[in-house]
Amino acid sequence: MLELSGVKKQFRNGNDYSSLLDHIDLRIYKGESVAIQGKSGSGKSTLLNILAGLIQSDEGIMLFNGKDVSAMTTNELAGYRKYNIGFVTQYFNLLGDRNVYHNVALPLQYLRQSKKEIKLKVEKVLEELEISHLKSRPVGNLSGGERQRVAIARAIVKNPSILLADEPTGSLDEKTEETILEIFKNLNHRGTTMVIVTHDKSVANLCKKKYELKNKKLNAIS
Ligand SMILES: Nc1ncnc2c1ncn2[C@@H]1O[C@H](COP(=O)(O)OP(=O)(O)O)[C@@H](O)[C@H]1O
Ligand SMILES: [Mg+2]
Repeated sequence: MLELSGVKKQFRNGNDYSSLLDHIDLRIYKGESVAIQGKSGSGKSTLLNILAGLIQSDEGIMLFNGKDVSAMTTNELAGYRKYNIGFVTQYFNLLGDRNVYHNVALPLQYLRQSKKEIKLKVEKVLEELEISHLKSRPVGNLSGGERQRVAIARAIVKNPSILLADEPTGSLDEKTEETILEIFKNLNHRGTTMVIVTHDKSVANLCKKKYELKNKKLNAIS
């Protein structure tokens, strides 16, 4: 379970500090699916980055299965991400000069899995996302929709216990979006906890709980 209490985040803006998230409380149970909506600039990506252990909150606590992530060292945070988190970031963060296979294999290499195991898993996920034919292409010359699928493949290849996705269907056509939704649905049925930032109603409707980030607060939407 992921549990945020009293989480606050502020950023410096010139000489001022303006708070973006203020006293956010959120409980995400194992296997649950959560959609986060909200206007551009409301802090959705920042909240996901906190859940991913990529940035720390200024105040408040984040617990993962009872462990205090907000008090972890840089090394411990890296371990938290490596073993638990799959993250489809908003702008993909892929290695543009490396090919699709290499990008998707990376999280498994960090986990020191064998070459054989990596090959099996990468090929399976590329097939699932219908991008096997792109395997040897450098990511830098793929289309936005293709890159988005590579980013999704990289996030799910290690079968993470928590999948975080930041507007994961933003660059996809309708048919590809359906494929991705089906994959997310299956992952969730198999027990993956999911937190998805989305503007897309059909993606949000996939999730059991919905929240809107507004005026620094997270409000449940029914
Ligand atoms: N590292 C940072 N330093 C300063 N300002 C930031 C930083 N990260 C985000 N912000 C600001 O916080 C606001 C919200 O950003 P973000 O979380 O990306 O919102 P959203 O994903 O909802 O569009 C933006 O105005 C952005 O400029
Ligand atoms: Mg964002």
